[in-house]
Amino acid sequence: MLEKVDRILTSHGNDKASLIGILQDIQAEYNYLPPKPLERVAEKVDAPLSQVLGIATFFQSFSLKPRGEHIITVCTGTACHVKGAPRVLGAIERELGIKPGDDDTTEGLGFTVEAVNCLGSCALAPLVVVDGKYQGHVTGKKMQSLINKTQKSKKK
Ligand code: FES
Repeated sequence: MLEKVDRILTSHGNDKASLIGILQDIQAEYNYLPPKPLERVAEKVDAPLSQVLGIATFFQSFSLKPRGEHIITVCTGTACHVKGAPRVLGAIERELGIKPGDDDTTEGLGFTVEAVNCLGSCALAPLVVVDGKYQGHVTGKKMQSLINKTQKSKKK
């Protein structure tokens, strides 16, 4: 595991100034930031682990716990909430048994669901982002079919 981390570190010249890029590459590799690689990063760039963890927890795009191969982001801002975000979350929970919070990832690490505030496209409410792709006017039924389609497709 740490060989890959070392390769990433070397590609960034073990440079403390590149910490964000290093963490992005590690997350791209593992889908989250596991503890051992973070310790290795701190050691190699000669920074306190607390500084590395500070960056890892500051940016929402980083995750310190395992995430699913597919990420479903549900906007729960006011417009999306009013237009049906709770129904979308309900459909996800029925289909996959997951909801934002402690139970946000399926057991086989297939899916992770997260809730975010306004994504700035309220005209599309309720808005859902599946693997980076915006989906507007999502109903419970549409969510169900998006999950089914995503299950059949490969991410990469
Ligand atoms: S409230 Fe969902 S995009 Fe604005």
